[in-house]
Amino acid sequence: MTAVDDARTLLATEPVGVWSAPGRANLIGEHTDYNEGFVFPFAIAQRTAAAVALRSDDVIRVRSTFAPDAVEVSLADLDDRIAAGGLDWAGYPLGVAWALLREAPDATPRGVDIALASEVPVGAGLSSSAAIEGAVASALNDVWNAGLDKVALARVGRIAENDAVGAPTGIMDQMASMLGVADAATFLDCRTLDTRAVPLGFADAGLAILVVDTLVEHAHSTGGYRERREACERGAAAFDVPSLRDLTVDDLPRAAEILDDVTFRRVRHVVTENQRVLDTVAALDADGPAAIGDLLVASHASMRDDFEISVPELDLAVETTLASGALGARMTGGGFGGAAIALIPVGLIPAASDAVLAAFAASSFRTPNVFTVTPSEGARRDA
Ligand code: GLA
Repeated sequence: MTAVDDARTLLATEPVGVWSAPGRANLIGEHTDYNEGFVFPFAIAQRTAAAVALRSDDVIRVRSTFAPDAVEVSLADLDDRIAAGGLDWAGYPLGVAWALLREAPDATPRGVDIALASEVPVGAGLSSSAAIEGAVASALNDVWNAGLDKVALARVGRIAENDAVGAPTGIMDQMASMLGVADAATFLDCRTLDTRAVPLGFADAGLAILVVDTLVEHAHSTGGYRERREACERGAAAFDVPSLRDLTVDDLPRAAEILDDVTFRRVRHVVTENQRVLDTVAALDADGPAAIGDLLVASHASMRDDFEISVPELDLAVETTLASGALGARMTGGGFGGAAIALIPVGLIPAASDAVLAAFAASSFRTPNVFTVTPSEGARRDA
């Protein structure tokens, strides 16, 4: 059964349509999106589906396979319910409905039943939230005649995440989920929102992306993620520029002089990571996927040592996959838990997976989930 089938079954009535959107893995470019920098994520095959039926009243009713109870809100009460917060998982779909109406004033809202089902592992750093947002935004865009394009729908998802759920994230995940292309990653300039689908050619090169989901939980609405963002804003303010996007590696000696040590290291991560994204895209274009491994490794070191968002489980996943023959490996997503990815020859996957499981057991860490992900198509209407 796919998420599309499950969403249909959960709806328990004939849908007017079923829409779906994928999770994502970020190949490189971490904590650069909210600094108006560069990112390079790809949509994965695992998707979240939203089956929608029309109602005769003005109620939005959301159900999902990941929570027992339905949540109902009338369109008239939507603003107040979002402002009051406390909606838990329902904050994502209802936040999208609210943000869509804000971004598309000419939309024609009406009551709907929405049933959600997901194949995207929650809390793995593979952006299960962007998958919900992309599926619901695509669905309501059609059903409410909102007329927004994919980039505008990604913005709707981000507004939901920032202003309804309260997580101060950037727009990478939503753009990756909306715009994904099979066998390619999305090179995104987060300042202009210009994108280019860059072919990855993993299969032709005999390579794959192995994910190690550490099962260490993170939440970006609290703590470390917000602190990192504030440090970046301090760094940009010290240089009197709108964002760290405006600095280059040539500015780092000066940054070392005028910033405190912690802020300097946060800035150094972002500035060097932006450069690594550009270098990765150039290396792929020129020499193919086998050429990007060292950049992935350097990215992980920067997140571990300068940005300080890794955890021992992620470091172990990276070290073990590299020792097992991966060309490159790094944690992916916001950090403080979640998953690492490794670029690895297909033939080495079984031995690398075994090595990761053995290393985690030897360290008395929770048994991780180890699986591959495939660069896949973004949000779409399925039925
Ligand atoms: C989370 C956020 C993204 C991005 C990454 C870090 O996934 O949702 O916007 O900031 O962390 O790169």
